[in-house]
Amino acid sequence: MDRSIALQKSDFSDKNFLEKQDYYLNLISELMDIRKRGEKPLAFIHTYGCQQNVADSEKIKGMLYKAGFDFTDKPDDADFILFNTCAVREHAEDRVFGNVGALKNLKRKHPQTLIALCGCMMEQKHIADRMYKSFPFVSLVFGTHSLQNFPELYYRTLFSGKRVYERDNDDKLIYEGIPVKRDGTFKSWLPIMYGCDNFCTYCIVPYVRGRERSRKKDDVINEARELINSGYKDITLLGQNVNSYGKGLEEKTTFAQLIGEIDQIEGDYWLRFMTSHPKDCSKELIDTIANGKHISKHLHLPFQSGSDRVLKQMNRHYDRKKYLEIINYAKERIPDVSLTSDIIVGFPGETYEDFKETLSLIKEVKFTSLFTFIYSPRVGTPAAEMADPISAEEKSKWFRELLAVQEEIAAKRCASMVGNNEKILVESVNEKNGKLQCRNSGNIIVECEGSSDLIGTFQTAKITEARNWILRGKIV
Ligand code: 5AD
Ligand code: SF4
Repeated sequence: MDRSIALQKSDFSDKNFLEKQDYYLNLISELMDIRKRGEKPLAFIHTYGCQQNVADSEKIKGMLYKAGFDFTDKPDDADFILFNTCAVREHAEDRVFGNVGALKNLKRKHPQTLIALCGCMMEQKHIADRMYKSFPFVSLVFGTHSLQNFPELYYRTLFSGKRVYERDNDDKLIYEGIPVKRDGTFKSWLPIMYGCDNFCTYCIVPYVRGRERSRKKDDVINEARELINSGYKDITLLGQNVNSYGKGLEEKTTFAQLIGEIDQIEGDYWLRFMTSHPKDCSKELIDTIANGKHISKHLHLPFQSGSDRVLKQMNRHYDRKKYLEIINYAKERIPDVSLTSDIIVGFPGETYEDFKETLSLIKEVKFTSLFTFIYSPRVGTPAAEMADPISAEEKSKWFRELLAVQEEIAAKRCASMVGNNEKILVESVNEKNGKLQCRNSGNIIVECEGSSDLIGTFQTAKITEARNWILRGKIV
């Protein structure tokens, strides 16, 4: 077929969207085979940021795999290099700028290698424009809303030999049936919804991932069943705010109902989810975790700040009292529940008095572990316009204070588990000390002696020692 015809979108109806993308995958495969004379082309995919990005990269890998690609962890060997970027904090963005800049030499050595950028950074016009201008050796740029068009975009770049820049597509649709090439063989990510409607004032996510939309319940349950039947042991349902799952679906469903139904699927597996928003975290959900057969006894519930004044400024729609009510209910209903959270230190206008409220909250709740971040202004968000008089040094001091307090709490929490028998999933071998790296249902790391043959299996470990936030145990 004349390839110039294939570039005309009107050849295909929207209903046949996936067929159209498959068609482009075939064309890519043809082109790559010509160039490599039958050898499989190689792709190097590097993912920054959260699990949602990891899940997106698994789709891109799925599409490339279908086109006949294999994967490499050496950029020098790759025919195609893709960075899937993260915009949540400045630090992540700086790393991308640095790492893309470093590809200049590689492109000089291997002019045939096609370099592409995608993900959340590319949905911010000022960043994508800067990338496109600063790095002329980048041939393809596309945002999160164009992921499903990847085959077409890639083909267009290959065929035309020109740079392709695609952003701002429709963010309302969900495309089912995109192939997935999962990184893990026993742990997997399962997106149940995309986007976010909450507009926390510090957060860029609603601007780069669009409005919240949920996958249909049957689609999620079928994918979960497939994963369980093919031997996956640890399945994490993903969404920016899983508690509001189901909004806008024809079939009325809550998140608690969804996980309750998945939990009915027979098999030996753990079901996890992230992230929950305290404003939508229902007692029904906590009861479902408490009664679940497979649902891990772990609740990741970001509170961001312990100060009601700051929570209001953050547009979080709950206060400290409401947060503690949910936490106390979870502690009552789920014995030994493992609680984790996200915290931002140094939000604009936060005072040391506000920060002390955060410290007192972590002392009261006793989290297993925390993901702690220093506030990073994001262009286009309301918080970036707020007065921010506290210096970076002062914020770092608060941050270190927070880490020290949490370290002590985590150490005590872990020490209280010595002597327990814990069900663990063996995940990998720690290269530093040769021990098996495992996790319990509460997502706490447990290190054990043992053979690497056990990777991917459930075992029971007697906990013999606690080292800060890590446990050591003996497989029994
Ligand atoms: N600065 C610092 N941390 C942020 N987060 C989101 N946006 C920002 C920001 N601008 C943190 C929040 C969120 C986690 C994923 O990242 O704690 O829960
Ligand atoms: Fe960002 Fe808030 Fe949405 Fe989480 S809930 S993704 S913090 S806007």
